Amino acid sequence: MKSLPIALTLVLSMATTPLRFSAAADAPPPWAYPVAAPGGAAPAPDDGSPKRVPGSAIGLTLAQTRDGFDVPDWHPDGHPAMPPIVARGRRPDVRGCGYCHLPNGFGRPENASLAGLPAAYIARQMADYKNDLRKSSEPKMGPPAAMLALAKAAGDDEVRVAAEYFASIRPTPWIRVVETATVPKTRVVGGMFVPADDGGTEPIGQRIVEVPEDRARTELRDAASGFIAYVPPGSLKKGEALVTTGDSGRTIRCGICHGDDLHGLGSVPAIAGRSPSYTGRQLWDLQHGARHGREADLMKATVAKLTEDDLIAIAAFTASRVP
Ligand code: HEC
Ligand code: HEC
Repeated sequence: MKSLPIALTLVLSMATTPLRFSAAADAPPPWAYPVAAPGGAAPAPDDGSPKRVPGSAIGLTLAQTRDGFDVPDWHPDGHPAMPPIVARGRRPDVRGCGYCHLPNGFGRPENASLAGLPAAYIARQMADYKNDLRKSSEPKMGPPAAMLALAKAAGDDEVRVAAEYFASIRPTPWIRVVETATVPKTRVVGGMFVPADDGGTEPIGQRIVEVPEDRARTELRDAASGFIAYVPPGSLKKGEALVTTGDSGRTIRCGICHGDDLHGLGSVPAIAGRSPSYTGRQLWDLQHGARHGREADLMKATVAKLTEDDLIAIAAFTASRVP
């Protein structure tokens, strides 16, 4: 450093100081970016017996439910026929989209729902990932890092076919939002919160806790078993004010761009009835520059003044709307 010209040293320190500051003061909230503690239990070994889920005549072994290149599909009648890129992906880099996002595109808290999103929006996100315009604020969170790598490997034709498939599916309610002061104790498995094995409850504090309605069915990747989102008391009313009025200039009324029912408008995505963990994560990413594609910049003014409590209230309210 000593040998650098003074002017350059100044520029360098100006560039690094705010970064150091924001890393400490502004760590991504763990409720939206769950990272599993190291050394967690290994997944149960496959005993070779077929597992079952309600409402399906199909039996699948544990190994089959974990195969990203032959996506487990318990309810083939619950969605249109999956194109190969969704059902099987392409070895070695592109697992089938239906593995993480589920065959019907309803998604899980650690990824995203894709059902009913505009095809042009889906394709734009894939391009933003590819061109380093979209990443995650928490690189240690496994699933978004996997999505980023996959998007870089996916071809344009594969993206177009997958986008049209997911855009063609009509989403139905998938997440139950519950205001409560007390929640089950949880731990992180993969990128998702699940109730702790030894049970117990704790205060919710200022966070959203989203867990499977039925952990066993979710772990088998049953696309007919959804999620419960516990949110702090008062979130829905506060969120409604922010979303529907902008709350006296704190933000901008979402309906202007996302449609009054929040079901999307043109290539602007729907935000109703989607995972509040995902929505909170994206609002944080948009606020902190992790998403900065041309269209994402349209969100800048909306998120600029929001606090973490505001994000929680907004995500709780939008998740509670009919998709
Ligand atoms: C390994 C799991 C995994 C697979 C397989 C996968 N995704 Fe994703 N996807 C994710 C995760 C995780 C996110 C959320 C990233 C985040 O929160 O920042 C995501 C997000 C997305 C988004 C952004 C959604 C939005 O509303 O902005 C799109 C679009 C998408 N995926 C498309 C695809 C397509 C198309 C495929 C198949 C070619 C695919 N994904 C396969 C894990 C996966
Ligand atoms: C000026 C227009 C505009 C307003 C107002 C606006 N949005 Fe957006 N929003 C967009 C656009 C455009 C995108 C898509 C960005 C992209 O393509 O990357 C977006 C994306 C999002 C996303 C990411 C969705 C996903 O699938 O990843 C969320 C969440 C979101 N907006 C929430 C909100 C909320 C909540 C409000 C109100 C408080 C709001 N937006 C107000 C234009 C707007």
